[in-house]
Formats: sequence, structure tokens, C-alpha cells
Amino acid sequence: MFNMFSGMLGLDVGIDLGSSNIVVYVKDKGIVLSEPSAVAVKKLPRGEGFQIIAVGREAKAMSGKVPAGIEAIWPLEGGVIANFDMTQELIKYCLRRVSSNSAFSAHPRVVISIPAEITEVERKAVIDATLGAGAGEAYVVEEPISAALGVGLPIDKPSGCMVIDIGGGTSEVSVISLGGIVVTSSLRTAGKMMDDAIIAMVRQRYSLLIGESTAEEVKNTIGSALPMNPELEMHVKGRDLSDGLPKSDIVSSIEVREAIEPILISIEDMVKTALEKMPPELAKDVVDRGIILTGGVSLLNGFAERLSRSVNTPVIPAEKPLYSVALGIGKILDNLNSMRRVLMSVERGSR
Ligand SMILES: Nc1ncnc2c1ncn2[C@@H]1O[C@H](COP(=O)(O)OP(=O)(O)OP(=O)(O)O)[C@@H](O)[C@H]1O
Ligand SMILES: [Mg+2]
Repeated sequence: MFNMFSGMLGLDVGIDLGSSNIVVYVKDKGIVLSEPSAVAVKKLPRGEGFQIIAVGREAKAMSGKVPAGIEAIWPLEGGVIANFDMTQELIKYCLRRVSSNSAFSAHPRVVISIPAEITEVERKAVIDATLGAGAGEAYVVEEPISAALGVGLPIDKPSGCMVIDIGGGTSEVSVISLGGIVVTSSLRTAGKMMDDAIIAMVRQRYSLLIGESTAEEVKNTIGSALPMNPELEMHVKGRDLSDGLPKSDIVSSIEVREAIEPILISIEDMVKTALEKMPPELAKDVVDRGIILTGGVSLLNGFAERLSRSVNTPVIPAEKPLYSVALGIGKILDNLNSMRRVLMSVERGSR
């Protein structure tokens, strides 16, 4: 059960622990931190473990550029913990950053978001990593609930709202009614898979090897889900596969769209299946209200429009797609008393 007393004394922190970004909300302050969820480590000799070189933005900047012996790690994959120790380091870094700015440096109470479709073991790992990172208490909340709250949906009403969250590692569609998740479905296929598809396309067409950060920049700059007028082009730099020397080529938005097409189709299919599984009364609510689209990939050019056409329902992009989940956790922290329905789902994950 949520310990109301400790909340009065200490620091309440909300964390959206994403595969690409970690976003931190502090009660009464708002979002205080948003950084890539990357850690750069140096392996110590004779199996003596590792030394953390950088976390967050600095670690991402090192990705693909680090010398031998140093590794840039993304400890979360598909929305779940792939590397427990590094996830703990990531959370520790966030808690250190928020505690150092606060009068209350003692162990904060932390609410952390998790994908709706994860196993008990994966859920427990998130709680253990949060406690291990220094939290006094750790609670989890399902991401679709916090995303819906974050975009201002009335989740505790008996009418259905559908939220689609396409992040770096997960694509998740959920229907929420009366504060609970009625239908949910997810894929561990999202923005990072699009980056990988762009790397493969550039390699095949141009014999050019590019890194993950470059591919991400290509996707975010000229990527699209629908034909554009005019189509765009971009200079892309990397290493020539044949002679290993630096090389630059021009990549077009048409090629990028073709490369990410299979991923867009699988996301569309996931949404269609979720709509088919819905009770008819809820489906009516969803059509009336429109589907909310959030997560970083909702910024992809033409994506909301394409989804809307393919499911024949209005799709409304969130205003702050990278922050919806963290803002929703913030609403839980700010209104603990009035959030009882949502707290139930928090308690389900607590121990
Ligand atoms: N303009 C853009 N166009 C397309 N994709 C974008 C854009 N801006 C950001 N993204 C992508 O959004 C993804 C990150 O989104 P987000 O921060 O919601 O993910 P996350 O919460 O860390 O991951 P997950 O929830 O899947 O674990 C990255 O793949 C990033 O490249
Ligand atoms: Mg996310």
C-alpha cells in the first residue's frame, strides 16, 4: 500500500523508463530530466567489473564512437530490462540528479512506468532495480494508464479511450475504461527497429555503413509514413564497405519510407486487431473520441494520418509525445487521493 506518511516527508519521483529515453518527474516541480537511456562503461581488467564513464546524453553521444574497452549500452530493450546492473545505474543517476537539487536527499518514493504486457519477473526486476538504485519505496504503473492520464483523457469514466504509444523499443495499443486496461496489445518493434531497417537499406543500396545515431537522424529528419510533396533528400555519412574509407551519399525520403514500411504495416495490423477485439460499445466510444497517438515515433511525418486512414477512425497526436507517460505519472503523484482507481494498478505491481 502506498505509504502516505513517507510522501509527506520526502521526495516523490516519477520515472518513465523507456528503451530510448528516461524522463523524470518530481512532484510539485514537473519534468526535471529527460535523457537518452544509455550508459557508457569501461570494462576493468581481470574480471573486476566495470567503471561507469557516462550516463544519458553524454553516453549516447559516445555510442558508436567509443574506443576499444569502452562500451555504450542501452540497458532497456523492448521496454523491459535487458541489463539489470546498467538499468540500476541509470535510475541511480536520475535519483542522484533530482536529490542533489532537493532539500530532501533521503530515499525518495518512486513511481515507475512499465509496459502493460510484461511478465511478473520483468515487473519485479523494475522494482528491484529502483530499490537497488536508492529508492525508499518503489511502485509501478502501467504505461498506457499513465500515457492516457498524461494526455488528459478521462480514464476513470465508463467510456473507452484508446491510446497508441510508439516509442523506441515498444509499440503498444490499449483501451482504457473505468481506470483499467480493457484491451492491450504490444509489439517489441518500434523506432529503433526503424533505425535498424535504415542501416540495412543504406548498406545494401549504397555499400555504406552508418551508425545507429545517424540512422535515427535520417528517420527523424526525412522519414515519413505517407508520400510527401516534395519528397526530401539528405546527405548521409559513413564508411564505405568496400574500402573502409569515409564516404557520403544522398538518401531519399522514398527509400527511407520503403525501408520502414514493414514496421509501419505491423503497427497498423496491431491496431486493427485491437479494434476488432473490442466490445462494440467501447469501439463506439473510441470512434467518437478518436485515438490518441503518443510516443516519440508519433512525430514521424504523416504517421497519424496514415493510421487514421487505415483504421477509419480519427487519430489525434499528443501535444508532448515524449513526455505523456511522465506527465501522467506526475498526475498520480500530484493527486494521490483522487487517483485511487489508478493506484489500484500501482498496488498490483507493488510488493
Ligand atoms: N521526429 C521524429 N520522427 C520519428 N521518430 C522520432 C522522432 N523524434 C523521436 N523519434 C523516435 O522516438 C523514439 C523514442 O520515443 P520515446 O521516448 O517515446 O521512446 P521510449 O519511451 O524511450 O521507448 P519505449 O516506450 O518503447 O520503451 C526513438 O526511436 C526516436 O528516434
Ligand atoms: Mg515509452
